[in-house]
Amino acid sequence: EEVLTDAPSLDALPTIPLFSDLPRDAFIELFERCPLRRFSLGERILDQGSHGDAFYVICEGQVRVFRTESGRRVDLAALEGGAFFGEMAILSGAPRTASVEAGTEDTQLLEISAPVLASLSRSHPQVAAALKKFVRQRLLTNVMN
Ligand code: CMP
Repeated sequence: EEVLTDAPSLDALPTIPLFSDLPRDAFIELFERCPLRRFSLGERILDQGSHGDAFYVICEGQVRVFRTESGRRVDLAALEGGAFFGEMAILSGAPRTASVEAGTEDTQLLEISAPVLASLSRSHPQVAAALKKFVRQRLLTNVMN
């Protein structure tokens, strides 16, 4: 018999590099405050050019990041469990730089709102620092593409 619970067991979560320096109790609290969203294969999660007020951590499955340039699809990245996306718009206030769709049938994402990120960054500055490092790398990748 399979027992299904609402929240995934924390031990079953992939390692999340962004939160590697976050104490476990802070991580559990974050997990309890944020909704877990589920998407099916090919389902759109974010739209390039739209306003953003949350970012996402991949708990299960994969996503594909792509841009549309003069009607052509340009693939930027495939992200797996433990990775995150959607941070750029909430850090910069600018529109979403790319679109993101689910790459697996049962894609589960932890949705972290801008206010929750702001309070997390205040109480745990190492999270904000780690986030900035990732963003710099991604911006560089996109400029080089
Ligand atoms: P945001 O601009 O809010 O919405 C689209 C997201 O795609 C963006 O944040 C990043 O999280 C993600 N993204 C953009 N470019 C890349 C890239 N080169 N590699 C991985 N993720 C990216």
